[in-house]
Amino acid sequence: MHDRVSGRPNGHAALAFFDDQHPPAGDFLADVLDGFSRQPKQLAPVYFYDAAGSAIFDEITQLPEYYVTRTELAILDRIGPELATLAGPGAVVIEPGSGSSVKIRKLLDSLSDPASYVGLDISGSHLEAACLEIAAAYPELQVGAICADFTQGLDLSHLPLEDGRRVIFFPGSTVGNFEPDGARQLLAGFRQAMRPGDAVLIGTDRVKDPARLIAAYDDAQGVTARFNLNLIHRINRELDGTIDPDGLSHRAVWNADQSRIEMHLVADQAQEFHVAGRTFQLREGESIHTENSHKFTQESFTSLAESVGFNVRSTWSDDADLFSLHWLEPTAKA
Ligand SMILES: C[S@@+](CC[C@H](N)C(=O)[O-])C[C@H]1O[C@@H](n2cnc3c(N)ncnc32)[C@H](O)[C@@H]1O
Repeated sequence: MHDRVSGRPNGHAALAFFDDQHPPAGDFLADVLDGFSRQPKQLAPVYFYDAAGSAIFDEITQLPEYYVTRTELAILDRIGPELATLAGPGAVVIEPGSGSSVKIRKLLDSLSDPASYVGLDISGSHLEAACLEIAAAYPELQVGAICADFTQGLDLSHLPLEDGRRVIFFPGSTVGNFEPDGARQLLAGFRQAMRPGDAVLIGTDRVKDPARLIAAYDDAQGVTARFNLNLIHRINRELDGTIDPDGLSHRAVWNADQSRIEMHLVADQAQEFHVAGRTFQLREGESIHTENSHKFTQESFTSLAESVGFNVRSTWSDDADLFSLHWLEPTAKA
């Protein structure tokens, strides 16, 4: 076993293993300074997910306007028997970006005698707590955790995994947070870790009425605005920043050309601010671009999946075609 993998003797009592790949948590300071030096200014969404950001994201998933989580869960409920047949008994389920490991319960409950669950997240403490809860709830299951950056591929070769079919579960349309090239690289990374017979179950949000999309990212209670502004509070707190969050307004915009919702923070008036001693200016009306969420059609997703060596074996959607789940299998040649 690889020396960075700890098992029961090293304190993760209920986990079969905790593989800490020490993801260089990104260089928050360097990325923020770089992002504020660009035109337009931008911040990387991976930094949303500190403890406060993860908690606010959980609130977003409960909002009436945020159909994504509800719809995906309802589809998972409906297709459980089909998933059980496709995965077969003894599956090894791996979830990149597992977060609070909530949706996975639906999948585990549907499958027939799953052998293992492996959560993978960049946020180590959140990951460990969530996987321990799964281990407690599913005593028969081998539960492990990998603290890693899923954009760097999935390195599973050294792990003491059971032998079953590997199913990579990637819900929440997280693939949509990447630009097309990044999405291809991400899926190609998953594809590389797969053997014949393995599969990916992936959720994608669909192109739809822009008003509905904008409401989902700019809710009436202002929770998404709080999520977006949390990044500014984090910069002020952790990087010695002086940005005035009260002078920034949350905006969600539908970019039809790129088929994506963009989140921005727009300056209500000009402000000068500092981050770690560097000075920056925001003009009145200038925006900081904080997130993209690409939306897919069946054709655009199929073409993405096929371009990196997957066959879309099945797609399921809700009646209103808001959201889809797809079962991908590796084609013979990547
Ligand atoms: C929106 S949550 C999704 C949680 C869960 N999969 C779901 O659909 O409910 C995204 C999760 O991905 C994690 N994450 C974001 N970027 C990551 C990366 N590059 N590598 C690993 N985890 C990442 C975050 O820490 C967060 O827990």
